[in-house]
Amino acid sequence: MKALILSGGKGRRLRPLTYTGAKQLVPVANKPILWYGIEGIVATGITDIGIIISPETGAEVKEKTGSGDRFGARITYILQEEPAGLAHAVKVAQPFLGDSPFIMYLGDNLIENDLNSFLQTFQQQGLDSLILLRQVSNPSAFGVAKVDDRGRVLQLIEKPKVPSSNLALVGIYFFSRAINGAIASIKPSARGELEITDAIQQLINQEKQVESCQIDGWWLDTGKKDDLLEANRIILDTRLTAAVRGEIDDRSQAIGRVEIAEGTKIVNSTIRGPVAIGSNCQIENCFIGPYSSIADNVRLIDSDLEHSVILQGAQIVGIEQRIVDSVIGQRAHLTLAPRRPKALRFMIGDDCQISLV
Ligand code: G1P
Repeated sequence: MKALILSGGKGRRLRPLTYTGAKQLVPVANKPILWYGIEGIVATGITDIGIIISPETGAEVKEKTGSGDRFGARITYILQEEPAGLAHAVKVAQPFLGDSPFIMYLGDNLIENDLNSFLQTFQQQGLDSLILLRQVSNPSAFGVAKVDDRGRVLQLIEKPKVPSSNLALVGIYFFSRAINGAIASIKPSARGELEITDAIQQLINQEKQVESCQIDGWWLDTGKKDDLLEANRIILDTRLTAAVRGEIDDRSQAIGRVEIAEGTKIVNSTIRGPVAIGSNCQIENCFIGPYSSIADNVRLIDSDLEHSVILQGAQIVGIEQRIVDSVIGQRAHLTLAPRRPKALRFMIGDDCQISLV
């Protein structure tokens, strides 16, 4: 059994963060989203992992994630020259996959469940595909499944205008080698992509063994800002353990579950967990409220924040109002005069969103 993780795509919905980086590398609780997927796969015992990368962000994904040693896996990087669809990615990965069955995992998806029980169902029942489904309120944004009472999949449609159910396809799939033949027989969809949804429908048409499992734990598709904040909140809530390796001076306090990495200095500040703070940060005269993640080399002075994600190297100085529900990109600077400012001076990149509320 192998695994294929898709980490290409343009990440349009997470702009401007994704102008300079891959959406799968955006951190959740200070760890790239992609790494949660790798860890979940390795936890099932699968260590032979292919990662699909794009020409735009492939080098960064490769450099950051490495050979797989840190996860106890062997990673093969596979270049998909153009974003021609999920099924196209499987085609491109053929030399890596061979005839092996595999888990296909979309690199920006996170689920609460571990993958073991699904893998067992897939293997024990000798299925050609096992798909995961979850009830959602906006099925038209996903692949949608119609199933019978026994969980047998009757029909799958990609992003239907009029959905036949509220069951969305989660971006984690199990396939036998039969998927390769199915992919060979499908045509590009209206959006010009070879859809994996159409390939699975093809398996159903051929009366292959396709089953579904409904999940009811959380599922996050971190492609948008609010989903990213939500993923950050859930991961901090459920997986963070307190660990203080940086320095906290005696005018500061860390309350609840707070992780502070090496080289970080906290001066005259209150940190109320769950909060994750990376290495070599400088935090002075601040209040850092629950559900915040601060990456490495961040400088926060005379500012308060809560329920926010601050990426590497950002600087926030002298912001009087509390910063909430915010995502601040790498190396961004946010500074204000400590009293009522006479003017605001901006250098804001394309697609940024600033609300002075
Ligand atoms: C893809 C699949 C869709 C699935 C979704 C899950 O959509 O095509 O069927 O429901 O992932 O994240 P995309 O992210 O390409 O819009």
